[in-house]
Amino acid sequence: MRTKVDERRQWDRLMAMARIGAIPGDGVNRACLTDLDRQARRKLIAWAKNIGASVSVDGAANLWLRRDGSDRDATPVVTGSHMDTQPNGGRFDGIYGVIAGLEALAALHDAGVVTRRPIEVVAWTNEEGGRFAPGCMGSMSWSGFRRIEEFADVTDPDGVRFADALATHLGSESDLPRRPLGSQPHAYVEAHIEQGPMLEAEGLDIGVVTGIQGSRWFTVTLTGETAHAGTTPLALRRDAVQDMLRAITALNALMHDPKDVLRFTVGRIAVEPNTSNSVANRASFTIDFRHPDKEVLLARGDAVAGVVQAAVRDAGVTVRETFHALPVEFAPLVIDAVERAATEQSCKQMRLPSGAFHDAQFVVPVCPTGMIFVPCRKGISHNPAEYSEPGQLAAGTRVLTQTLVGLANG
Ligand code: GLV
Ligand code: MN
Ligand code: MN
Repeated sequence: MRTKVDERRQWDRLMAMARIGAIPGDGVNRACLTDLDRQARRKLIAWAKNIGASVSVDGAANLWLRRDGSDRDATPVVTGSHMDTQPNGGRFDGIYGVIAGLEALAALHDAGVVTRRPIEVVAWTNEEGGRFAPGCMGSMSWSGFRRIEEFADVTDPDGVRFADALATHLGSESDLPRRPLGSQPHAYVEAHIEQGPMLEAEGLDIGVVTGIQGSRWFTVTLTGETAHAGTTPLALRRDAVQDMLRAITALNALMHDPKDVLRFTVGRIAVEPNTSNSVANRASFTIDFRHPDKEVLLARGDAVAGVVQAAVRDAGVTVRETFHALPVEFAPLVIDAVERAATEQSCKQMRLPSGAFHDAQFVVPVCPTGMIFVPCRKGISHNPAEYSEPGQLAAGTRVLTQTLVGLANG
């Protein structure tokens, strides 16, 4: 390839992004649709405009950078990822795929290479679901899997409605051309850190991702009655915390998997009034349940509500499903293109599935889709200690660039 990925430029840009929302221990807390998110997006827009890319935004605030091809009628090849982070996130999850896409465009620009198809880089809105649950709102509404209006009344921990945060945000980007929500790319390929230990353990450079396991999220809310901790006999209580424990214990039994393939997480718990000497009148908790086998995902996920109802004793209970993504398989067109590019770049590679979900999961029904993983230290992610070396990230971007060029000339 004539193009040359600039390892230093990419690293410096990643570190510049990491300063926006930096938290102790090298982490980042940059929630979607906040002022920090807007700052990061402005930086990206400036870098894109510097290389002549055109910038636009859609109705879900997905941000698009486009480099034209020679064929005006050709559908684009799209790459990208997300710029929001977990509340206690790292410097690479998501933003790497966006900066790698930009670096691919910059490398093509520097070398004066014109592809036949346009290449677009997208920064999807709210992949993480850390501020507004669920994640992947931007890609789900772009693909038509959900309508953006369905998320209007989701609130963040401060009670801000998603619809209001989105309107404020779009107002701040009213200088950008607005493009329709939804499009029909030729192909989509997303670069991401692996977020697991396989590539590092095997001493490899590149993961050629074959698909993504399924995920289901639920929120369980228990409503009891608050009472004095010193005077109220246990027999008279409707203690929401005790029922939450019963429910979680029953769910642990439902989700038991001797093979340790199934993933079951209770990651967020809220209790009211949350004082040590009052019985809780309200408790809620989230369930993040994942499995690569659709049958298991459907059967155990469908059993959640019944198991919770049967386990609680005194409190009222509601179980709401907030996210439902079936396992997906990526397209041979993209898998093969990534594999070929990795071989041509002399990268050591393996095929592997993704345990984490990604926006790519929702692009699958729209166009041939795939992903490229790069190793990350000890597989640590969703953690400030998340780390990949500049050279590992640059190798991933070289493979991404070559994949994009291959697909864009095809
Ligand atoms: C994505 O952030 C995930 O939780 O898999
Ligand atoms: Mn991510
Ligand atoms: Mn993540």
